[in-house]
Order: sequence, then structure tokens, then C-alpha cells
Amino acid sequence: MTDNFRRKIHYNDLIATFDDVLILPGYTQTYDVDISAQLGKYEFNIPIMTAAMDTVTEEEMAIQMALLGGLGVLHRNCSYEKQLEMCKNVKRARSFIIRDVATIDINARVSTAKHKMEDAGISGLVVVDAKNRVCGIFTKRDIPYSEEEARKGKVKDYMTEDVISIEPNVSRQEALEVLYNSRIEKLPIIEDGYLRGLITKKDLKPEFPHASIDKEGRLLCALAISPKYPETTAAQNILKEIDDYVDIFFTDVADFYKERDIQNVRKLMNFLDSDFVLGNIGTYEAAEHLLTKADFNEEKFIGIKVGMGSGSICSTSIQTGVGAPTIFATAQVADAIRDYNSEIGLIADGGFKNPGDLPKAFSVGADMIMSGHFFAGCTESPGYIDTIQGRKVKVYRGMGSKEARTTNYVLDRYVEGAKTLPEGVSDYVPYVGELSGVIESLTEGLSNGMIYAGAHNIEDMKNAKIGLVSAVGMMEQKPHDLMGKY
Ligand code: XMP
Repeated sequence: MTDNFRRKIHYNDLIATFDDVLILPGYTQTYDVDISAQLGKYEFNIPIMTAAMDTVTEEEMAIQMALLGGLGVLHRNCSYEKQLEMCKNVKRARSFIIRDVATIDINARVSTAKHKMEDAGISGLVVVDAKNRVCGIFTKRDIPYSEEEARKGKVKDYMTEDVISIEPNVSRQEALEVLYNSRIEKLPIIEDGYLRGLITKKDLKPEFPHASIDKEGRLLCALAISPKYPETTAAQNILKEIDDYVDIFFTDVADFYKERDIQNVRKLMNFLDSDFVLGNIGTYEAAEHLLTKADFNEEKFIGIKVGMGSGSICSTSIQTGVGAPTIFATAQVADAIRDYNSEIGLIADGGFKNPGDLPKAFSVGADMIMSGHFFAGCTESPGYIDTIQGRKVKVYRGMGSKEARTTNYVLDRYVEGAKTLPEGVSDYVPYVGELSGVIESLTEGLSNGMIYAGAHNIEDMKNAKIGLVSAVGMMEQKPHDLMGKY
């Protein structure tokens, strides 16, 4: 690293925003750039996340984002039951290990097995005994030709007893090799004689080779979480159940640099098994505190999310006079991460208006970016497409807006007990079609920016030189002196 971010944007003198800075062109040696990112043990083919907002990320968006190689963080402006359902749907969306395996008792009749397969639309069943131990496999090909035998016969007389199986914790590649070498379609996972899952050849074929997946091949699942510890046993129990489906929790609070939130989240991290991204914060001091004084579980604390008041639907800064624009916050926290723990990932959240803002965030130290604004108008975001004056639109609302607060689930995102002042707005954004198109524009802007800056990958981008733009320069950056309005 040639320069530190503090010197890069002189952030002690100026609270800069994206439009205040430009990346200087670097020496380009390749057009081949790698935009993949790492956050804790997770790898992403694109360094982009969708915001945990109720007009941006529910399961449809989360599934599509993970399939495309990024991450959609599910919102929490709903009951724990609905959150659980969303997480289950993300995890079940595409999996090479089926956990819910269809079985048949060894003493069942062939006719029962036949009906079970027809009802479930599948071609085979795993045969188990009364103790649920695997005894064989029964497929459609094992059904006897004679109708009489099929009606009277028992599964145990027609099943294949020698089951080719595999142990748990198998990799995708190992499973593929066994399936191809043995020319079978289905591979039960067996541990000490008991069925633990099933792998099928069909599910192993990668339709989305860049998808963000866990080690079992299931899509990664991320969920926003309140900074409060749930009070009732019922709430604690369901949160624990949600934990089984979540890979990363994102603490969902406008300003996480608060003693009470930090204490509660420390407790939550001990209670839950999943990893945590903490935030939002906006200064070097806050990051220093989280990294050195807060005593969070070191293994589960994998990232920090930054930015306050710069989101397109935010009104925190005008209502309270407090804020930390995303590029400023990213630069500050990147410095603290470099000073104290470079393993921690950094997510720049909110305020992105154009694809060109992405390379700027990476140039001051971000590992990934998060946006609601780019994605609220997608087909995959929740809500209906409306038409206003002939234009297709969708609703996009801040989680601190009057409209989002009516549900009461996200009141603790802001100052506790605050009743009247909304800290966000609700409005329309243009309908922009499918997520894949938006992601394509963003990744193209990012890649081209990296090429101009002479960077090969995101880590390299942190070495890009940036400078502050004068007020006149800001006007010149956009198309100007033309008849049209831009
Ligand atoms: P963009 O610019 O993508 O920003 O619209 C999305 C981020 O803004 C945060 N957020 C809010 N901040 N009041 C705020 O001050 C709100 O009502 C609000 N809702 C969301 C959040 O961090 C999100 O990712």
C-alpha cells in the first residue's frame, strides 16, 4: 500500500462525498480485471450487496443476487416467522444436497412406493428400516412388470441392497466423481448407517457457475438483525431456528457506535452461531472501538458496514445534523481496519448514484458495496410496478420513513424512544427491469474504472490515486453546455 486513506482524501479537513472525488488514471497493463471479493470465509464473484430494506430485499432478490455472485441482505421489517420463511426459501432455492429426502419403509408394498414416487414427481426412494437406517434404494425401474406382483409385492424383495453412498461433508467435486464413475443418478449421504441427505446428478450441474454458495452448494443467506437481544424465550427460540439458515447476520442500526447496542450484540454473537457484519458506523474512532475495545467473538466478527445519512432515502442528517457520508466513512474505517485487523471486511453502504461511484468506494478501502437505490426498481424487488405519467415506477422507502415505521419492527434502527421525527422518506424510483441488467451495468462501470485506474483486482484498487474536485470541476464532470438536461 503506497498511501494511506487519511492522506488520500484529507478527511480531517473535509467530509467528502462521492462527487467530491475523482480517481486519477493509472498505468493500464491489462484489460483483464478480477472483481471478486472476500468477506470472512465467504467468496463473492461480484462485490455487490442489496440493502436490507423492505422495498429492496426479500427472498426473490436475495436468491437472484446470490445466483449472480453477490449477496442480498434480507430485511427484518416483519415477524420472525416471516424472516424464517424467507431464509428457508433462500437456502432451499438451489442445493446440491437434498436434506428432505423421500424414504420408504422396507416392509411397505411396492404399490405404496409407486404412489409415493408419482405424487412427489420423483424416480426413486431411499429404503429405511424402523430405526431409519438405510437398507437400500428403490427406483421406478425396480417396479415389477406384472401388475399382480406390483400390487402384492414388498419393497424389500425388489430394492437394490448394495447402496453406493458417500459420507457427509463431501465436496461438490467428490460427489460428481462418484456419480460419474458409478453411473448412478442418486447418491445417498450416510453416516453410521443413518440417512443424512441425498445428492442427485441433476442438482450438481452448475447453471449459475458464479453463484455465492456455502460448502454444501446452497445459496448464501444474509439477514438484518436488530441490535436488541430478544426478551422472550419464544423469540429467542425462533431466532435460534433462523440462525440455522443464515450465514451472515448484519446488525441493522443507523448508528452502531452506542454502548447499549454493542453490549447487546456481544450477547447475540455468543447466542447465535452465524457470522456477523457490524454497523453502521462512520468514523475511525468508532471502528477503533469495535476492533480493540468491544470484545466481540473474534471468529464471528467478519466485517464492518459504514455510511450514515448518505442514502438516497435518508433524512437522518437533515433531521439530526449528524452523518458520515459513505466515501468519508469508508476511508476512515479502512484506516482503522488496516491499523488494527486487516482480516475484517469493509462494506460501503448507501449514497451510490452512478456506476462510477463504485470504483471510488474501492479506491478508499471498501471490499464490497451495498445499495438500495440501484435495486429498488428491479423486477426482483418487493412491490408492484405502478405507472405515473406513463412511466413505470416502483416504491422505494427508507426504513426510518413514516411508512416503514408503521409496522414497529424497525423502530430500534434509530434513537430508542424517538416518536415523531422520521429519518427517511418514501418515494418512487423508475422501474429498471431485471436485476441481471442492473448488475451488468454496475460491473461494467466498475471494471472499466479499474482498467482506467490500472488496477487488476479490488485489492489493487485500494492503491489507486484519488483527488478532490473543485466546485467548477464537479460541474465539468457531467455532460454540460448542451441543449438537453443531464
Ligand atoms: P441508498 O443510497 O442505496 O442507501 O438508497 C441505502 C442505505 O441507506 C440506509 N437507510 C437509511 N438511512 N434513513 C436513513 O438515514 C432511512 O430511512 C434509511 N433506510 C435505509 C441503509 O444503510 C441502506 O443500506
